[in-house]
Amino acid sequence: MARKIFVTAALPYANGPFHIGHIMEYIQSDIWVRFQRMQGHALHFVCADDAHGAPIMLKAEAEGISPQALIERIAAGRPQYLKGFLLSFDHWYSTDSPENTQLSQDVYARLQRAGLIYKKDVEQFYDPLKGMFLPDRYIKGECPNCHSKDQYGDACEVCSTVYAPTDLINPYSTLTGARPVLKSSAHFFFRLSDPQCVAFLRTWLDAPGRLQPQVVNKAKEWLAGSGEQALGDWDISRDAPYFGIPIPDAPGKFFYVWLDAPIGYLAALKNYFTRGKARSNGEARSFEEFLAAPDTEQIHFIGKDIIYFHTLFWPAMLRFAGSPYRVPDHVYAHGFITVSGEKMSKSRGTGISPLRYLEIGMNAEWLRYYIAARLNASVEDLDFNPDDFIARVNSDLIGKYVNIASRAANFITRSFNGELKFGADAVALVDAARTTAALVHASYDAREFGKALRDCMAVADHINHEFDARQPWVLARDPANAGELQQVCSRALFGFKLLSVLLAPVLPAVAERVARQLFGLGRAFRWSDAQELPAHINPYEHLMTRVDPKQLDALFSADTAAPATAAAAADAAVGAAAASIAGGATASAASISIEEFRKIDLRVARIVQAEAVAGADKLLKLTLDLGGQTRTVFAGIKSAYEPAALQGRLTVVVANLAARKMKFGVSEGMVLAASGDTPGVYLLSPDSGATPGMKVS
Ligand code: 2FM
Ligand code: ZN
Repeated sequence: MARKIFVTAALPYANGPFHIGHIMEYIQSDIWVRFQRMQGHALHFVCADDAHGAPIMLKAEAEGISPQALIERIAAGRPQYLKGFLLSFDHWYSTDSPENTQLSQDVYARLQRAGLIYKKDVEQFYDPLKGMFLPDRYIKGECPNCHSKDQYGDACEVCSTVYAPTDLINPYSTLTGARPVLKSSAHFFFRLSDPQCVAFLRTWLDAPGRLQPQVVNKAKEWLAGSGEQALGDWDISRDAPYFGIPIPDAPGKFFYVWLDAPIGYLAALKNYFTRGKARSNGEARSFEEFLAAPDTEQIHFIGKDIIYFHTLFWPAMLRFAGSPYRVPDHVYAHGFITVSGEKMSKSRGTGISPLRYLEIGMNAEWLRYYIAARLNASVEDLDFNPDDFIARVNSDLIGKYVNIASRAANFITRSFNGELKFGADAVALVDAARTTAALVHASYDAREFGKALRDCMAVADHINHEFDARQPWVLARDPANAGELQQVCSRALFGFKLLSVLLAPVLPAVAERVARQLFGLGRAFRWSDAQELPAHINPYEHLMTRVDPKQLDALFSADTAAPATAAAAADAAVGAAAASIAGGATASAASISIEEFRKIDLRVARIVQAEAVAGADKLLKLTLDLGGQTRTVFAGIKSAYEPAALQGRLTVVVANLAARKMKFGVSEGMVLAASGDTPGVYLLSPDSGATPGMKVS
């Protein structure tokens, strides 16, 4: 029976391009989605930019543009990744949309009617210069426990103590440097602690197979918390200035971004329906009808860091908003992607640059295959290991899978005019294919992609082994063996067809070429093609090349993320490409166009803090204020400046340089300094009158 499935991946914040963690999640959900589509299920796969919230508002302000202009620019960058990695979303939308406004306000009104919303005064830090309440991440000060300076408002990075921003000694706003004051304001709360919410969540969490066991345990821990850890009500409002959806009848109040973000899943689906795309699939007539249908399934793929929102707030909101809203049928969480064992930062996204991966011409299906091979249904982290990547792609994908077709097809084309022939074993072959397809089906359905691919490769091994054992190149020497040769190659090619169907969710482009070109099917594969014996093939055409280890070197080469000043590069010993920047003092570089120059986002920055870095001879750690945004930059200027002399002065920073992980921390930009053949480093300064965040052009 055809299922009706609505699938989402987590909505990325619209303040930056995708990083490898996003791409991994999209690949995971895309494989599952493609697999379900191949079964003939009606499936809608949507995503959107998560456009609201203070960081996006402040970033736009720092750039001197409107938040709408910022999110539009980010949105314009999405398609190259989506196309590049063969991600088959049916629709990509934005939470800053009329549908999301309407749906968020509707959900809120329904929760109000259900008696689950109340208003309460909250005292919070307020930046008197900026005229805004400060989210914890924009407050810093001295840790009340270990007295380390410049610790964030929620926890100390040095001693790990967790505290409230009001516990900080000498707190300051990272936006202006001003001392925040306590100010009271009315906030709206969602009564999550209401016994009916708690009772509902217990039942929802307990539904067999709904969530992964690790996720259920975590959510139950939160639900059962007592004392300080007790499940609190949820503060769903923020005061102006805020980039978000206005709360009806509450001037100056906006929904907290985490209220409208998941509703954005529905807004994307609604817009998709409105545009008629879904209707042309012959499915439900309207968004409401689709959502309310009892047999619709709503499934969210997310990262483990946002389980809290998706297993407590989100189902509770939906349940008490009532029909047509429905509670999620499944929330599938995955772990983080690490690169050679190093954890990636969610916001900074260090590691592999997905854009660079595409730009240097690496094949998206290699990455899809590798990620699938490393994924299972658990919440474990997944490590990208370059050597393992090369081995899996070259030995499994090319050596085992592609190899079958390239060898067997040539005999059939040359000697049998493309005709395949099966003997008395045809029935057994089809039976075996059916069994394999069922096994792999179960693994894909359960998101055990690693197991699915291991089973496929075991089949490939078997096919290659059998092919080699029959020595077709020897058979080909004697026309008397023609019948046997044809059958040996036909069996191998049926095996290849079976594998192509089974690998199609992971390798959609290769599989489609196999379907159309080699087997002349006139369409992409369906799952049921796995057990259909082919009668004929067209001449084999090249399917996929091997990975060259040099491509991995290029992927990880330092020029993707240049260091903060040349001297810093030397200090951190980050490799050859960095050295070439360091050596550029006297050379006059090749000319570039104005467009190329404009890609560099140069900004005036104030050095809020400068400090020596233990263990680094040349580096100073600078905390920069970019007019609403704080950055940490390691600069190789220790030989020339006393840290105290730098504090408060203005300089120029490359603001859109990819963050770079250095030995001493992550550097989020590069300050500009002059140096020549004689010793000395000279930091650039703007003329007086310039203020932090101004664009330098
Ligand atoms: O954590 C994040 O990146 C959020 N932007 C995810 C939102 S998912 C959904 F709730 F919208
Ligand atoms: Zn501390």
